[in-house]
Amino acid sequence: MKKILVVGSLNMDCVIETPHIPRAGETISGRNVVFTPGGKGANQAYAIGKLGGSVKMLGAVGKDSFGQTLKNNLANVGVDVSEISVLEHEPTGQAFISIDDEGENSIIIIPGANGALTPELIGKKEESLKKNIENSDIIVMQLEIPLETVTYVKELAASFQKTIIVDPAPAVTDIPDSFWNGIDYIKPNETELSILTGKPTGTREEIIEGAKSMLHKGVRNVIATMGGKGCLLVNKDSTQFFESRSVKAIDTTAAGDCFTAAFALALAEGKSCQKAIAFGQEASAIAVTRKGAQASIPNRQEITETSC
Ligand code: RIB
Repeated sequence: MKKILVVGSLNMDCVIETPHIPRAGETISGRNVVFTPGGKGANQAYAIGKLGGSVKMLGAVGKDSFGQTLKNNLANVGVDVSEISVLEHEPTGQAFISIDDEGENSIIIIPGANGALTPELIGKKEESLKKNIENSDIIVMQLEIPLETVTYVKELAASFQKTIIVDPAPAVTDIPDSFWNGIDYIKPNETELSILTGKPTGTREEIIEGAKSMLHKGVRNVIATMGGKGCLLVNKDSTQFFESRSVKAIDTTAAGDCFTAAFALALAEGKSCQKAIAFGQEASAIAVTRKGAQASIPNRQEITETSC
C-alpha cells in the first residue's frame, strides 16, 4: 500500500451543543460541553490510520496536556507521530465549536502551535522533510496552517512528483493563482469553492463553472462536495456527478476531513478516483451521524464496500 503524509493542524475541540448558533449580541444556554480531539489535519491523519492506512503526520502542538492527548489519540490508531513538533512557547491549537439542533456548526479557531508551523520551522529540518516527502506517495494538506508552509511543502512534493491532495479549508480569498498549479486534487465544498473563486455556487452549473476556473489555475481535479446533495468530479476530460446516501446528520464536524482521508486512502490502495470518491462519501455519511471530529470516524468494517 502507498504511504500517506498529512501536513496540517491539530486542535483540541471545545464543543458546545446548543439549540441554535447565537446571533450577534445574543446570549443563549448551551446543553453540554466536551473537549475532544480535532484539527483538520489531525482528523484526516486519524481517519486514514483508523481505516487501516500507512500514515505519518507532520504538525505542531504545544508542550501541554492537550498536545499530549492529541498525539496519543493519533498514535492509538497507528499514525506515525514522530514528525509532530512539541513547541515550548506556543499552546496547542484550540477550536471552539457550536453545534445546533440540525447538526450544523460554527467554529472559532485559536491557531497556537499550528500558526507557528512556518516554512522556517520545518525548513530547519529540510533534509528530514525531503526524506519524509520522498518516502511518501501521497501528500495531504489543508489550509489551517500558514499558507506559505502549504506552498513550500507542495512545491517540494511536486518536485518529487508525488500525488498532492489539498482540502482547501478553511477557505480564504487571497490565495495567489500560482498556489494551485500542480495540485492533483482539491476538495472544496460549495461555500469554500465560492470563497476561492469569488463566484456564486448556488446551482450545479455555477459549481461546475467554479470548478473549471480552478482547473484554469492549474488544479488537475476538483471534487466539489455538496453535503447530502452528492458531489461533482470536474477535470479536463469530464464532469461526473456522484449521488450521496441520505442519512440523518447530527453533527457535520469533520465530515469533510473524513471524506478527504478516505479518498486519499482509497487512492493509496490503488482504487480509481471514482471508487475513491464513493469510499469517501460512504465514510463521511457515517461520520455525520455521530458526534465529535475524530470520535465520529468509522472503522473499515463499517463502510459498505459494495459501492466502493
Ligand atoms: O474540520 C473540522 C475541524 O475544524 C475541527 O475538528 C476543528 O478543530 C477545526 O479545525
